[in-house]
Amino acid sequence: MAPVLLVLLLFISSSSAAGKHEDPTRKTMEEFSGFQSPANPFVSDSSNSLFVDIESLQRQIDELSTFSDTPAPTVTRILFSDKDVLARKYIKSIMCQLGLSVREDAVGNIFARWEGYEAELPAVATGSHIDAIPYSGKYDGVVGVLGALEAISVLKRSGFQPKRSLEVILFTSEEPTRFGISCLGSRLLVGSEQLSEGLKEAVDGQNTSFLDAARSAGYAEDQEDNLFSSVFLKKGHYFAFLELHIEQGPILEEEGVSIGIVTAIAAPASIKVDFEGGGGHAGAVLMPARNDAGLAAAELALAVERHVLASGSVDSVGTIGILELHPGAVNSIPSKSHLEIDTRDIDEERRNKIVSGIHQSAVEIAERRRVKLSSFKIVNQDPPASSDELVINAMEMVSQKLNLTHKLMISRAYHDSLFMARISRMGMIFIPCFKGFSHKPEEYASPVDIANGVKVLALTLAKLSLE
Ligand code: GLV
Ligand code: MN
Ligand code: MN
Repeated sequence: MAPVLLVLLLFISSSSAAGKHEDPTRKTMEEFSGFQSPANPFVSDSSNSLFVDIESLQRQIDELSTFSDTPAPTVTRILFSDKDVLARKYIKSIMCQLGLSVREDAVGNIFARWEGYEAELPAVATGSHIDAIPYSGKYDGVVGVLGALEAISVLKRSGFQPKRSLEVILFTSEEPTRFGISCLGSRLLVGSEQLSEGLKEAVDGQNTSFLDAARSAGYAEDQEDNLFSSVFLKKGHYFAFLELHIEQGPILEEEGVSIGIVTAIAAPASIKVDFEGGGGHAGAVLMPARNDAGLAAAELALAVERHVLASGSVDSVGTIGILELHPGAVNSIPSKSHLEIDTRDIDEERRNKIVSGIHQSAVEIAERRRVKLSSFKIVNQDPPASSDELVINAMEMVSQKLNLTHKLMISRAYHDSLFMARISRMGMIFIPCFKGFSHKPEEYASPVDIANGVKVLALTLAKLSLE
């Protein structure tokens, strides 16, 4: 019966309440980013015949963006802040409205389950994150959470019954903003002992411990030793994991392709560096007598760029997103400096070579400038991940059935999928975003592209559920 329903899913007639009213928030965003809206984005292509309630989904995306610590159109939603807690409540209420059973683990990963008729089989999961780096946009991660819930709605409306259960996961802190650890929730979920230990001591920039922050948000309430390892899931817990995400790069839009099917996720690393010098008076200490921690940091920043460019590959990238000087007075020589470096590559060995080059430069600069390299900490140095063939084939087949142009591509951004691949088959669906903008407020994905992504997600979930 279920395969018949799957075929039916492809031909359900759409009844979009398209374009009845213009949403002012979306309009502002479109104008702000310079995006030219298609004539009527809510008119869905009836040949595609799957009803995605894009109007409601867009409203949810807009509403969620108001849970922000900075004014629209920017979004800032930091882990376990009041706004993050409110946003989590908002998502949980949608999960409940859909009749899903909701579970939360000790670090705030949220799981919403639609029980399949063979519930003992490993489930098929999908999801993403809703935390947002400072002054960013409203689509990164959010499309993969609210879009996943809409995909479940699509399947429910169609009368589909999953064989394997379907789960939507909201991952805690994909962004490293607060505790410096990327993909915190998914990294822990897949069994990182190192993180499980590290979280006991982790503090944020205000010296608030991870435990206190989690408790203030209603998590980590148990006192037990195995609090963090209780989050671990075993390999094979899920049959497959899928993530819908904006591309965060320009390729799909430039090539006019609707769907990106991710074959691999690049290898990210991040490093924290501290230099300490003598400081002193900006007028009285003469140049030969200085040990300027600020200039050591400046030199290291340029060395990062040099090492990255020396790889000779456009796939190597490096960013110094944080550079802090102490005491931060115009007439005081910096006595301390702090840098945070992000470097990535699709080639792990090449990325590792860059990391060791950066370390050598830090040592050499400290020596030459007579400052102390007080800390050089590799926060994470993760391998890349490959998507699973079964999942890739399913996504390709579904895209073809939906008459959506698609291409195989690599994800240069990291995602929770990078970690989920360690315990499950994994695949990602990318949709175009305007000019590839992301991690800035101009980030924008059109309703048509979001709806296409939701359709591909819904049918791929359905297909994998029946495997
Ligand atoms: C994810 O947010 C990334 O930085 O790739
Ligand atoms: Mn992001
Ligand atoms: Mn993301």
